[in-house]
Amino acid sequence: MKKVLKLALIGCGKAARRHLALFRELPEVELLAVADLDPGRANHFAREVGAKAYTDYREMLYRHPEVEVVDIAVPSGLHAEIALSILKDFRKSLILEKPLSLLISEAREVVRTAKELGLKVITIFQNRFNRPVIKLKEALEAGRFGKLVLASVRFYWCRRQEYYDSASWRGTWALDGGVLAQQGCHHIDMLRWLLGPVREVYALARTRLMKMEAEDVLVGTFAFENGALGTVEATTCARPRDLYAELVVLGEKGSVVLGGFALNELRYWAFEEETPEDEIIRKDFASNPSDPLGYAHRACFQAVFKYLAGGTKDPRLVEGEEAIFSLELIQALYESAFSGRPVSFPLEIQYSPLGKRGSYENTFARS
Ligand SMILES: NC(=O)c1ccc[n+]([C@@H]2O[C@H](COP(=O)([O-])OP(=O)(O)OC[C@H]3O[C@@H](n4cnc5c(N)ncnc54)[C@H](O)[C@@H]3O)[C@@H](O)[C@H]2O)c1
Repeated sequence: MKKVLKLALIGCGKAARRHLALFRELPEVELLAVADLDPGRANHFAREVGAKAYTDYREMLYRHPEVEVVDIAVPSGLHAEIALSILKDFRKSLILEKPLSLLISEAREVVRTAKELGLKVITIFQNRFNRPVIKLKEALEAGRFGKLVLASVRFYWCRRQEYYDSASWRGTWALDGGVLAQQGCHHIDMLRWLLGPVREVYALARTRLMKMEAEDVLVGTFAFENGALGTVEATTCARPRDLYAELVVLGEKGSVVLGGFALNELRYWAFEEETPEDEIIRKDFASNPSDPLGYAHRACFQAVFKYLAGGTKDPRLVEGEEAIFSLELIQALYESAFSGRPVSFPLEIQYSPLGKRGSYENTFARS
């Protein structure tokens, strides 16, 4: 019989709601207990699945030593602190909502601690499981683009003041960051995963429409180590509604464009050396199969559970160092936006306020 993983969940907010729906449906897991500082939220979640509710996650874990894996879906700036306390004091493997942490030093500590203790920490980057993305990754690995020229991501989304006012952590430098760190995390992970390491970045950021600490619009450029250039355009100020998200990869032998809200649709796929598979990809991999819970989320969590239950690791899963790569890029872009200078790797962070709890200079360079 297949192993059923015993799970606990920390944080019963928006992201966790999606997790809960999957936990209810997937036979690979059983949710035993949930914790949220807000007892109403914890009770509500617990009732839905017949789990126990707690307001203190440490008490929950003391009372449920049978829990094997803990899923963390609290505000981003708290991920590392909670992860470290569970790794060290309770010795459980973890599922963490993205990003692993806002600070590179903290992220490294989580990765190092998990490695030393022989535990697993998986960060959720579900867009890697989109079917068009899988095909694009395969084409890049097969060298089908030839010399890479340009890779760009842009997303123009609509978030209004109510969204930022819905929780005190949203849009703060200490616990969230702006459109780049919160919404753009997935797109930056995608660029780094597909195109590889970056040598230098330059960015400009502003807070144009929202009342919040962090930025609501950012533009940035990348010089990849492989010689290609890249750009990011990110905003939550599209009005009156979400516009679109897009990823473009151009090489000497072909071009691919992905679109859709979560880079889940194939818009363009053309190579100078066409293969019989190209027509199949354009026809059968142009989008994810429809799934009320989200195809990529389900595929990602199924891969996570298989791996945590002792199965093989899907190469799309983000574990260890891999979760730090996109965080480094995000920090580099903020460092550039705040210093007014291009930033190169290896990184030295001085001006970026992301993840910092103390005082900081809240002015974007050249604003
Ligand atoms: N993968 C994705 O596409 C995706 C989508 C949305 C959010 N997220 C991530 O999920 C995380 C949560 O975001 P959200 O939108 O669900 O936030 P939210 O504010 O809706 O929920 C967070 C919950 O955590 C609880 N909480 C805070 N501190 C806690 C603590 N110490 N112990 C227990 N509970 C605590 C809060 O009370 C709240 O209920 C963020 O890191 C965000 O980046 C990921």
